[in-house]
Amino acid sequence: MEDTDRFLLKLKGYYFDRLSVDIGFIENLDDFEIREDDVFIVTYPKSGTIWLQQLLSLIYFEEHREGTGKLETVTRVPFFEYNFQKIDFGKRPSPRLFSTHLSYYLVPRGLKNKRAKIIYVYRNPKDVMCSNFHFEKNVKLQFTSTFEAFMKLFLEGRVLGSLWFDHIKGWYEHRSLFNIQFMTYEEMKQDLRGSVLKICKFLGKELSEEDMDTVVRQATFENMKYDPLANYDKIITTAYGTNVKGHFLRKGTIGDWKSHMTVEQNESFDKIFQREMKDFPLKFIWDVN
Ligand code: A3P
Repeated sequence: MEDTDRFLLKLKGYYFDRLSVDIGFIENLDDFEIREDDVFIVTYPKSGTIWLQQLLSLIYFEEHREGTGKLETVTRVPFFEYNFQKIDFGKRPSPRLFSTHLSYYLVPRGLKNKRAKIIYVYRNPKDVMCSNFHFEKNVKLQFTSTFEAFMKLFLEGRVLGSLWFDHIKGWYEHRSLFNIQFMTYEEMKQDLRGSVLKICKFLGKELSEEDMDTVVRQATFENMKYDPLANYDKIITTAYGTNVKGHFLRKGTIGDWKSHMTVEQNESFDKIFQREMKDFPLKFIWDVN
């Protein structure tokens, strides 16, 4: 059995984390009842999901901003398909906040009627691949030892979240079905305050200047890394075991791919990217220099 099959589970044409997914839930996803005021963060893994979870927690919950609530962001904005805390979503008060890595075709039918709001965050796929390489290796979703081998799996879509190209193209090409706002990891990194304003505008939330300052301060990489409610270190050990050393908050930079990829790897990635993303209108930031 290959590692991909041992640690990832292919269901409905998509690779899930075998350890964490609830198969029964996935089989009945289409009928999951969506509420008008639900909010979904949608990301391909390693594009900044936990960052958005922290931002939504801070925007929606005063006690999270004040630091009095003591609830982890994953409890406030649970993963939809990886329900680590076994939350009864049907009993949850509105507005419900979720995050998901699902492809557009897997989400509940109700979302396709423009009910609820979706924030789709995408990131330079080279940085996604590097971030994913460390994550999947550390949490042992793959035992792939070399970056070269992982890049091959990534470009074949044999990784958590399946093929990156399919994920972003699927969501973008079907955007008219959804009430969706597209954002990039890089714009959040370059202008966090502006990004929070954009998110608030989409969600119809208004924050005072003071609250805005607090949100921005608490959502920086440095703050999240050492905040146990935001850094997911506990989730990692719960889901994957206490001997796992990986961190969700690893480097948090733009352009880390340059310290991983050789010139040849970069060229072959670019060739595939250009072929796959030809005519794709959304812009990417590859570097900050
Ligand atoms: P790196 O591995 O490149 O550091 P996800 O939450 O989708 O799994 O994404 C994790 C990636 O987002 C990691 O990237 C992590 O460091 C980065 N990230 C999370 N919070 C961040 C923040 N506040 N600022 C910058 N990057 C952040």
